[in-house]
Amino acid sequence: PLSAMEQEDAIRQELGSLHGIPLFKCFIEGWPQVKAFQARPDDLLISTYPKSGTTWLSEIMDMIYHDGDVEKCRRDAIYNRVPFLEMKVPKVPCATGVEQLENTPSPRLVKTHLPVQLLPTSFWEKDCKIIYMARNPKDVVISYYYFHHMAKIHPDPGTKAEFLENFMAGKVAYGSWYDHVRGWWEKKQENMLYLFYEDMKKDPRREVQKILQFLGKELAEGTVERILHHTSFQEMKKNPAANYETMLSTVMDHSVSPFLRKGISGDWKNHFTVAQNERFDQHYQEHMAGSDLHFQMEV
Ligand code: PPS
Repeated sequence: PLSAMEQEDAIRQELGSLHGIPLFKCFIEGWPQVKAFQARPDDLLISTYPKSGTTWLSEIMDMIYHDGDVEKCRRDAIYNRVPFLEMKVPKVPCATGVEQLENTPSPRLVKTHLPVQLLPTSFWEKDCKIIYMARNPKDVVISYYYFHHMAKIHPDPGTKAEFLENFMAGKVAYGSWYDHVRGWWEKKQENMLYLFYEDMKKDPRREVQKILQFLGKELAEGTVERILHHTSFQEMKKNPAANYETMLSTVMDHSVSPFLRKGISGDWKNHFTVAQNERFDQHYQEHMAGSDLHFQMEV
């Protein structure tokens, strides 16, 4: 029998490259099906760089789609209610994101982390609604670091300092955070809503109202109230349909670090050294130069 370390090595793999974007080799294997994916006009795409509030937004959207019916939103795990477009699990004979989506009745919610230039063209052709959520990079990198430890699909993250360097250089799954947030920002159009994790933390009611307006949907005040309560960090953390605890522990080990870890803005302050912060700020200035896209590093 394999030792725990050997088992882990069997899952952890170096990243491959998809059109210059570092990505899991198994996802790259499934790329032809993703590229050819047939979106439907009433699909709604939830797009994010990893660790930017995807699951939070997904739960909010499923609640909105079900008029705040908590029981309906417990029907299945979040990764089945909102299938992950480019997902393909290595070795395990389990449905790919594309296969899951093909078996999902409309109107579908679709999750992706793809950079804008790699989004299957069908989403543009069908003029699908898109909600992009961005989060400040300092919190993203810390969240991503812990996620690398618990989600065994990732390569070993190394030390925090090493991971920070790799993140800044875009040498992590899905590549450069800068390119991702800027790419989607520049593509912004009528059918796209660009949201920020920090705004959602500060005033979730206002952000949910923005989403409702974008969808052209009205909900009773009490329903909005229920959605806000059900999608709070505390509620989601204890909800097995939202907290990923139903995933195989060989894939995600919550005892290493829970999927819903802290859910705050500004946790990076507990992790960055003064020198790292200065270096990061300078790198950030350089890579965001000329953009009117701005981030709040804390709320
Ligand atoms: S993934 O794997 O990329 O889809 O992860 P993603 O869902 O984008 O990001 C996970 C982080 O989002 C936090 N989270 C929340 N924060 C506030 N409120 C709610 N309801 C919520 N749900 C998830 C989660 O805790 C991860 O952030 P960190 O900073 O690690 O806690």
